[in-house]
Amino acid sequence: MSDNNHLCLLGLIFLSSLLTGVSGVDYVHVFISSGEDVRLPCNNALQDCTSTTWSYNNRFRDSAVELIHLGEKNKDTERHERLSLGSDCSLNIRNISTEDYGSYICQQWTGENGKHQKQGPDAGVYLHVLHVSSSHTEISSGLSVTLFCRLYSYPRVSCDDLVSSERIDLFWVNQTGVKSDSRYQISSSSDQCIISLNKTLLNEDHNREWRCEVTQKDQVKSSVTYTVNSSGEKTSHYQF
Ligand SMILES: *[C@@H]1O[C@H](CO)[C@@H](O)[C@H](O)[C@H]1NC(C)=O
Ligand SMILES: *[C@@H]1O[C@H](CO)[C@@H](O)[C@H](O)[C@H]1NC(C)=O
Ligand SMILES: *[C@@H]1O[C@H](CO)[C@@H](O)[C@H](O)[C@H]1NC(C)=O
Ligand SMILES: *[C@@H]1O[C@H](CO)[C@@H](O)[C@H](O)[C@H]1NC(C)=O
Repeated sequence: MSDNNHLCLLGLIFLSSLLTGVSGVDYVHVFISSGEDVRLPCNNALQDCTSTTWSYNNRFRDSAVELIHLGEKNKDTERHERLSLGSDCSLNIRNISTEDYGSYICQQWTGENGKHQKQGPDAGVYLHVLHVSSSHTEISSGLSVTLFCRLYSYPRVSCDDLVSSERIDLFWVNQTGVKSDSRYQISSSSDQCIISLNKTLLNEDHNREWRCEVTQKDQVKSSVTYTVNSSGEKTSHYQF
């Protein structure tokens, strides 16, 4: 494709986003834990994925980045190696990192020679990434550790917004699945959702699992399990 066509297509994308605005996109929420693989659906009107364009944005970017351009991976993006286009034009991302959260938009275009026309409505995905980190890498009995479970989200600015408008919530649960405890502190003052679990480790906590869950409308969407043992090893594994 020539540069002219490329420019023209970019212009069209820009124009159409001006015309439709954000409200012209049908968004779905997808939740995933860091380290997992994810598939973002494109409500494709067309079978042929060479018409598919995926773009990405989050609040730290001035403008959207094209990840897939008419079925071709844009090799300039830092994470292109983790991306692939599914046979149904979905966007697959391997080994999710906390930097992958944001808004993804799938568009489909027909035509050639600079006369591209968008087909169907844009499909949008808000990708939320759940990640757990620990205040200490070395764990031993008697030590006070804090586990932080954070949901990286876009476009909501505050956690309160997420909770009230999307009914998205975070919980620490113990091995019997019981939620909440006075030791668990949810912080919503920052611009991101973080729930921390603060605990002085006892011998009996050896190999104990703590699980952080993200729920939407009271349904568990993703969770991370964190296991500490007194040898200083730590593991986290992920389940959906
Ligand atoms: C996944 O990404 C992390 C960094 O975010 C890296 O340390 C790890 O090796 C990657 N795993 C695989 C299987 O590529
Ligand atoms: C989970 O928490 C509940 C309520 O605090 C408690 O009764 C139960 O024993 C806990 N289970 C485990 C395995 O810690
Ligand atoms: C965790 O608990 C310890 C001991 O009570 C306290 O000193 C520390 O500030 C707490 N950390 C957080 C993040 O709440
Ligand atoms: C700590 O946990 C890891 C992962 O589960 C395990 O491989 C290791 O053997 C454990 N260490 C001890 C001392 O149990």
